[in-house]
Amino acid sequence: MSVKVLVLVGSLRAASVNRQLAELAAEVAPEGVTLVPFDRLGELPFYNEDIDNESVAQSVADLRAAAADADAALVVTPEYNGGTPGVLKNAIDWLSRPFGDGALKGKPAAVVGGSFGQYGGVWAHDEVRKSLGIAGPRIVEDLKLSVPFKTLDGKHPRENAEVAAQLGDIVAKLAAEVG
Ligand SMILES: Cc1cc2nc3c(=O)[nH]c(=O)nc-3n(C[C@H](O)[C@H](O)[C@H](O)COP(=O)(O)O)c2cc1C
Repeated sequence: MSVKVLVLVGSLRAASVNRQLAELAAEVAPEGVTLVPFDRLGELPFYNEDIDNESVAQSVADLRAAAADADAALVVTPEYNGGTPGVLKNAIDWLSRPFGDGALKGKPAAVVGGSFGQYGGVWAHDEVRKSLGIAGPRIVEDLKLSVPFKTLDGKHPRENAEVAAQLGDIVAKLAAEVG
C-alpha cells in the first residue's frame, strides 16, 4: 500500500502546537502512508474569482498540484473565535475551484487539531468538516480528535501516548478509506 496524505495546518505561527500535532501524525503513520505537508498557506492570496484564472498565483497552482497528487487530506487546526482560522478557510476556498472539480474531489479527508479551550477547538473542527465537505473531499465523519492543550502539559504532543495512539489510528483509518 502506498498512500499520500496532503496535510494542511490552520496556524501559521512558528511554535504552533497544531503543526506539532501534524508532525506527530507523520511519525505515527503506518508503513506505506506518507504525510505531505503544504506549509505555504500564508502565501496564498485572498480568494477572488477575478484572479482564479489561467495565470493564477504560483502558490495556488502549487497547492492545487499538491492536492491533485494526494490520495487523501488531513487538516490539523486550532479554533479562532469559535470557528475556522481565516488562512485555512481561504485555502479551502481555493481548493473548492474549479467548481465541482477541485483537486481533492471525492478524496477522503479528516479534520483534527487542538486549542487552548476546554473543548479543544471542536467548533472549528465541525465547521471545517462542513466547509471542506462542501468544497469537494469526502469527509470521514467518525475520525475526530480535538485536543485541549492543557492535557499536553506544555510538552510536544508526541510525549502524550494517548494523543499519539489516537492520531495513529486516525491516519491509518483515513488511509484505509482510499479506494
Ligand atoms: C485570533 C485568535 C482566536 C482564538 N480563538 C480561540 C477560540 O475560539 N477557542 C480556543 O479554544 N482558543 C482560541 N484561541 C487560542 C488558540 O487555541 C491558541 O492560540 C492556540 O495555541 C493556537 O494553535 P497553535 O498553537 O497551533 O497556533 C485563539 C487564538 C487566537 C490568536
